[in-house]
Amino acid sequence: MSTIQRRSLLKALPFVPALSRSVVQAQDADPVHSFQLEARQEWVTLGGRAALAFAYSQRVPGPALEVNPGERVVVDFRNALPEATNLHFHGLHIPATGSADNIMIRVGSGAAQTYDFTLPANHPGGTFWYHPHVHGAAARQVSRGLAGPIIVRGALDRIPEIAAAPEALFFLQDFAVSANGQFSEPGMMARMNGREGSLITVNGAANPVFNVQDQGWLRLRMVNASASRYYHVRLDQHTFHVIAADGGATASPVEMEDLLLAPGERIEVMILGNRPAGDYVFWNMPYNRGGGNNAQRPILLASLRYEGTAENPWTLPGQLVEIDLLPSPTMKRSFRLGQRMMNFTINGRAFSESRIDTRVNLDSVEDWEFVNATGMDHPIHIHTNPFQVLGPNGNPIPVWKDTVNIRAHSTQTLRVAFRDFEGVSPYHCHILDHEDLGMMGTVGIGRIA
Ligand code: CU
Ligand code: CU
Ligand code: CU
Repeated sequence: MSTIQRRSLLKALPFVPALSRSVVQAQDADPVHSFQLEARQEWVTLGGRAALAFAYSQRVPGPALEVNPGERVVVDFRNALPEATNLHFHGLHIPATGSADNIMIRVGSGAAQTYDFTLPANHPGGTFWYHPHVHGAAARQVSRGLAGPIIVRGALDRIPEIAAAPEALFFLQDFAVSANGQFSEPGMMARMNGREGSLITVNGAANPVFNVQDQGWLRLRMVNASASRYYHVRLDQHTFHVIAADGGATASPVEMEDLLLAPGERIEVMILGNRPAGDYVFWNMPYNRGGGNNAQRPILLASLRYEGTAENPWTLPGQLVEIDLLPSPTMKRSFRLGQRMMNFTINGRAFSESRIDTRVNLDSVEDWEFVNATGMDHPIHIHTNPFQVLGPNGNPIPVWKDTVNIRAHSTQTLRVAFRDFEGVSPYHCHILDHEDLGMMGTVGIGRIA
């Protein structure tokens, strides 16, 4: 371990440059990180061709926002789109109220909004992302390019065997864009099933190349930022060592041959360059999520290329971080996911902004059982408070999640703690057409008993 060389992070974020930011000292001496972000319709290059996309600060995906626990984050956001939009900070444990992660905010065309929040000092490090969240327009805006990564530095980044590896983003998006660069709106059936575009990009590129050294490690932060498409990722002749999921590190590395990323989910993996030098392909393998979207053949996503040799090969540690399991719940609730044609519901009701569907006590722990009564998978995302998924034995799995796939005709229980942040916050299907069509509810967190 002491022989590990700390590599510079020059190769970090090769395709998604970090946004220039100003760091100023606030009066209370806490650092403030200010970002400027503008949403605008413009011509960008996607998968090697010109497309009239919706972009954040002229880029698809948008620039990476890198922040630290305990920091105050100020995002000066301008909307130069021809329609209203807003920002959601997917997965961050921050208030859903005020000018923080408040999706009730509408930023009209030509208007500006300052988002301002403080990351809790104990916020886990991890890979998060930002995207618009205007009910009825989320799928269209995200599928036209509005999405960008957020990196919170944390304990994982301080583990020498992890920090020694070059890191890169693997930001997955798909686009329905014509040969002349125009986006088209899908028909009713495609919205019902969840729109998918035939152009698949990683960091905005078709088949980008990621480098790994022989006997060295590569760290990838994978984000599914597609509106509806699932990614079932495999890498020729290599395995993935999973070190983090949505809300931060796993307790220990988990070696896997296949990764499934439903919309909204993130996975961080380490890849060891232990094969003969050459190029290897990342494939998107078939996966049947229901609704007729099962591709029959693998689709090429990206390539891994061997370049150079690691001077001091190393292994990953057996333990990464300590994860506290949530205690037994004080309440158990059931949420039934339903669909009849274009009507998507939770417990029989479509989303209403003026209704609070579920009221929970501040400082409580609850089990939320999601019953998928439909023939399609639905990835359920809960804002504000991450959760632990209960395993087959009924015990929580020790990793923080904020989005989890509920397979067709199946049931999954999530354990959620509501320890801080009073206010109203949504939960919904992250197939964004389903969210737009009503599969979203609200939880009101407060002192009610
Ligand atoms: Cu999201
Ligand atoms: Cu859904
Ligand atoms: Cu959401």
